[in-house]
Amino acid sequence: MKDFYTLGIETSCDDSSVAILKNEREVLIDLISSQIDIHKLFGGVVPEIASRKHLEAINPLIEKALEETGLSYDDIDLISVTKGPGLMGSLLVGISAAKGLSLATGKPLIGTNHMQGHVCANYLSNKDLKPPFITLVVSGGHTYLCKVKSYTDYEVVGRTRDDAVGESYDKIARSIGLAYPGGPKIDKLAKEGNGKAINFPRVMLEKDSYDFSFSGLKTAVLNYIHNCDQRGEEINKADLCASFQEAVMDVLVEKSMRLIDQSKYKTFCLSGGVAANSRLRDIMSQECAKRGIALSYPTIELCTDNAAMIAIAGYLNYKAGERSDNYLKVYPNLDL
Ligand code: KG4
Ligand code: ZN
Repeated sequence: MKDFYTLGIETSCDDSSVAILKNEREVLIDLISSQIDIHKLFGGVVPEIASRKHLEAINPLIEKALEETGLSYDDIDLISVTKGPGLMGSLLVGISAAKGLSLATGKPLIGTNHMQGHVCANYLSNKDLKPPFITLVVSGGHTYLCKVKSYTDYEVVGRTRDDAVGESYDKIARSIGLAYPGGPKIDKLAKEGNGKAINFPRVMLEKDSYDFSFSGLKTAVLNYIHNCDQRGEEINKADLCASFQEAVMDVLVEKSMRLIDQSKYKTFCLSGGVAANSRLRDIMSQECAKRGIALSYPTIELCTDNAAMIAIAGYLNYKAGERSDNYLKVYPNLDL
């Protein structure tokens, strides 16, 4: 059978990325042009700068992906582009590039949900993985507990009512002077600290709820920093990071394992940028092993934003019969 090539385009936040996927799971190339050095000067992503940088990066990245794989526009069978959620201006750049390419080449176009992409990154790292499974999706802007019933059927059972996990990491990091994005830096510093040093709140919400709330924890950490400042006491940053991280982990583990214990699913996947967190991987490995549950998480590169995950999610939806046309819009608040 002839090989099928999907061109993936991702511009939802601050990384421009272009990938080419061969058939279902073979990533031929996954190029990322990072904007972190610019946004870090401002302590977080500046939307206007992000869209301008995407505009400069996207076409050269597409050209480079084709050149390095030795493929031409003729070889591409599908163009999959992130349609949301994300920053309006950033998404528009990717969608416009994809539409232009689809019009010029006559190749089919599919708009892809970025959060579904994060989940599908698991298929790229674990070639035998198949639905059904439960996934905890933890990214910079979203937090979901979700049953993945088939390649295209997702049932969200829990979500954050306020801050996302990655957002909490980034805000706490910023308040102790760690550069954006703070998640990886807290991960590293926490290894040197004592997770029991400071008792931060674990917000579990109603007894049966799978929803999350992290704004109370964020406020508690910020109050702790403020009180230390007022008393002129030096903060042990490693202990603070470790204690904050343990509070996050206790909530993520309790909710995820309760869902696993109450359902028939035998596989659990971590998805999204925070799935790169070493403590989350360790603690979920232990908890899954205790229960005889298989655990999957993407490689570190595939946890954070990339176009390979957008290519595979688009490919799976396309094979299930989904199509977009040239009226495709952006959906900044798209849900999973
Ligand atoms: O999924 P992602 O790349 O972008 C969104 O779709 O939001 O996630 C980025 C988030 C950031 O908040 C970043 O701090 C966090 O993932 N992150 C981590 C780690 N690596 C990335 N958080 C904790 N530990 C890490 N090792
Ligand atoms: Zn993302």
